[in-house]
Amino acid sequence: MDINALKGKIEQEISSVKNIEDLEKVRTLLLGRKGILSEYIDRIKTLDKEERKIFGREINLLKQWTEEKLREFKQFYEDEEKNRRELVTWIDISMPGKTPVTGKKHPITQTLEEIIKIFSTLGFSVAEGPDIESDYYNFEALNIPHDHPARDMQDTFYIKKGVVLRTHTSPVQIRVMESQLPPVKIIAPGAVYRCDSDVSHTPMFHQVEGLMVDRHVRFSDLKGILSIFIQEMFGSNTPLRFRPSYFPFTEPSAEVDIGCVICGGRGCRVCKDTGWLEILGSGMVHPQVFRIVGYDPEEVTGFAFGMGVERVAMIKFGIDDIRQFYYNDIRFLSQF
Ligand code: DAH
Repeated sequence: MDINALKGKIEQEISSVKNIEDLEKVRTLLLGRKGILSEYIDRIKTLDKEERKIFGREINLLKQWTEEKLREFKQFYEDEEKNRRELVTWIDISMPGKTPVTGKKHPITQTLEEIIKIFSTLGFSVAEGPDIESDYYNFEALNIPHDHPARDMQDTFYIKKGVVLRTHTSPVQIRVMESQLPPVKIIAPGAVYRCDSDVSHTPMFHQVEGLMVDRHVRFSDLKGILSIFIQEMFGSNTPLRFRPSYFPFTEPSAEVDIGCVICGGRGCRVCKDTGWLEILGSGMVHPQVFRIVGYDPEEVTGFAFGMGVERVAMIKFGIDDIRQFYYNDIRFLSQF
């Protein structure tokens, strides 16, 4: 039996090991029950007593050496695997965190809140009414005659006969006056609906209604309150003018314009070269409206106004297409 040849073979097998799978194969090949070493050990029986002693010891040493070598290799591969795993699962706690994307208030909400804040500081409280409104509150009680163009099917969304989506916030005036005695000092913000859609109209938009009723409320009070509002909203140097107008529920009536904030009054596309932008309708509450709600027009007077929130927001932010507010394009909305 050539022990040296055997050792050479074992070394050769071990040096061919490249990974843990190879190692297990080589282990079986060398140390398995039908492996090379077992074969040699079996053969020892056939030797005579002296030889048996010598070979027995040599083979045993060789077996121990082989086991030790394979153990070392195994340890090496296991360590290597452990390091690899640690590298993969390692978390660098010094890395900067990901900032979550946060939403923002819609520009219309921001504008509404600002309008409400300004009027709150002037002593107005907030009133609300339903979006689905009766013909009576939306038109009749506001002294809007049956043949008034605002009743045209083209402007109004009818839910059924006598029931509409409110076309303005003015019906809240009636609801408030019906339910409380003067003095009244409210604003009514909310959504309104009209069958209309282009660069300056959306089928749903927002208005803020205002109403102040008391003894001796005059047109100058209306002017004063609206002047303060416009200066707060658009800056203290913003010019405004009252232009005679007509609304069935106010007499006299006026529309309020502010100096164009885009061109500073010189004339541009936005103000259609007039230098002025219309922002609201207003007037002194019509005596007929007072009679309808049971107020005595000889006792009290009042002013009312109604403004478009989208219009205010467009002017404030310089937006030339009202539909931008409702496309829900994140690139547009994230700018506010
Ligand atoms: N309701 C009117 C509209 O939607 C706006 C308005 C004008 C409201 C005059 C008023 C007012 O309270 O006095 O066009």
